[in-house]
Amino acid sequence: MSKKLFIETLGCAMNVRDSEHMIAQLNAHEGYELCDDAKVADLILINTCSVREKPVHKLFSELGVFNKLKKADAKIGVCGCTASHLGQEIIKKAPFVNFVLGARNVSKITDVLHRDKAVEIEIDYDESQFAFGDFRTSPYKAYINISIGCDKQCTFCIVPKTRGDEISIPADLIVSEVAKAASSGAKEIFLLGQNVNNYGRRFSGEHDKVNFTELLRRVSAVEGVERIRFTSPHPLHMDDEFIEEFARNPKICKSMHMPLQSGSTDILKAMKRGYTKEWFLNRAAKLREMVPEVSISTDIIVAFPGESDEDFAQTMEVLNAVRFEQVFSFKYSPRPHTEAQMMVEIDSELGSHRLSLLQSRHDEILDEMKLENMGKIVEVYFEELRSDGYVAGRSDNNLSIKVKGSEELLGRLLKVKITQTSRTVQYGEIVD
Ligand code: 5AD
Ligand code: SF4
Repeated sequence: MSKKLFIETLGCAMNVRDSEHMIAQLNAHEGYELCDDAKVADLILINTCSVREKPVHKLFSELGVFNKLKKADAKIGVCGCTASHLGQEIIKKAPFVNFVLGARNVSKITDVLHRDKAVEIEIDYDESQFAFGDFRTSPYKAYINISIGCDKQCTFCIVPKTRGDEISIPADLIVSEVAKAASSGAKEIFLLGQNVNNYGRRFSGEHDKVNFTELLRRVSAVEGVERIRFTSPHPLHMDDEFIEEFARNPKICKSMHMPLQSGSTDILKAMKRGYTKEWFLNRAAKLREMVPEVSISTDIIVAFPGESDEDFAQTMEVLNAVRFEQVFSFKYSPRPHTEAQMMVEIDSELGSHRLSLLQSRHDEILDEMKLENMGKIVEVYFEELRSDGYVAGRSDNNLSIKVKGSEELLGRLLKVKITQTSRTVQYGEIVD
């Protein structure tokens, strides 16, 4: 009988892909099959996120729960970003944990599995050319890493300390991964990196100097690829060439993530983001002008140390000017090993108040925008069968769309007319 693996994945798309890598390695070399019940598992993995403080606190209570319900001889491993930054401390606080594996070390999963109390958290470990096995959460789309780590020094962010310096994966390796995925039926390719449009700055060996725009061209030339998405680009590196390729290339989905973080140039400076409010507005305007159907999403942090009412008003101004289709907003959370951790925090209640002002203004904007979607015809890639008789997918510009139907729609790209709209999901009818 095969051994069973249960894995809980928190955090970003990068973590989703790291989990896929670990599942593939454990399956190919250790005979583990994935299961969805921790109680019957022989190995329980938690792939953690450390970008904000709350999920880190939750980790230890969750570990306690897993320890109580697991089979007597089952192992527990803590992986990912919190593993990177807490390391040995995890085993000190939760001695029943069998191993700790950092976000930059996922290729060592089959090794730590056999070394009780192993802690592997180096952040200069180079996994950029490691050949992982195949496992995909969805048969319809493929997540593919294009770089590991991050070279930016944003003062709020723990990621460079959990994932290390940025190294690009060689373009020919990426293209062959894409070809493999596309030939097995994944029409949509999701390119992943901490800072995708900085691609090509550093490789670990001698490699072709390929930048992100060129990489997009190469990926879109692969047979079977119909859609390309990517996350996350950095506003600073959104040069004209990149925006023009985005506009011109029909395989690139017309949805762009542009993490603003703050609308105040002073705060952007304190965050070391490298751009101004004006640059951000200029890039967003160019995008909207060149790609009128584009949807733009963003990340915003409120209450960064030193944020005044005037700074916050600038953020609201950008919110009103760009009219983002999606906003991920957070109250600043001080993180260890970051520059901002030494800065004086602002009042927490004021932060919560600003967050709710921002979110309610954005809800109003969404209510206005959803009406504009009524009656539109969009192309949808169907990926998920729901139990309520609907099939769900995403439009090219990333709207979540549901139509009545059955599994024969899965994996197909079809035109849909939007007949009902809400802030988060649209309903429609197939028109072709
Ligand atoms: N506090 C709050 N939000 C943060 N993010 C990153 N670090 C912090 C922090 N210390 C947010 C940023 C980033 C997103 C993934 O998480 O907005 O883009
Ligand atoms: Fe992803 Fe960052 Fe969270 Fe790590 S800390 S899982 S890189 S969001």
